[in-house]
Amino acid sequence: MEYIKLAAVSDFKSLRIKSFKVLGRKLAIVKEKSGSFYATEISCKHHNIDLTTGRIEGDMVTCPAHGWRYNIRTGQCTSHPGAVLRRHGLKVEDGAIFVTTLPLPDTEEDDADDMDAWEIEFKNPRSGE
Ligand code: FES
Repeated sequence: MEYIKLAAVSDFKSLRIKSFKVLGRKLAIVKEKSGSFYATEISCKHHNIDLTTGRIEGDMVTCPAHGWRYNIRTGQCTSHPGAVLRRHGLKVEDGAIFVTTLPLPDTEEDDADDMDAWEIEFKNPRSGE
């Protein structure tokens, strides 16, 4: 796995979450209460909205566009259980935060297949069907 330097620990003195764009995808570094960090995909699985622009309450984030809710700590979407935010590897060295450019292998998924199902599911309430 390739790691790149994205931030410094000192960037998070008063900040809990910050998003970055890496290889065309949004990911976020999140600081936990314990002071440790993790990195997670942060684009909504519905239409790629940056979830850091949504409402954040504890570990729960609500997408500002259509309200899908995610636990950013686990990656699970409570609105659509198949929509999992993938984890990235993260390491801290000498006050610098490094993150893997790609999600960790055990959190890979096939986005294309799942998106078709979500589009159909989301359109039905709008059309009244
Ligand atoms: S873009 Fe996030 S719920 Fe639609």
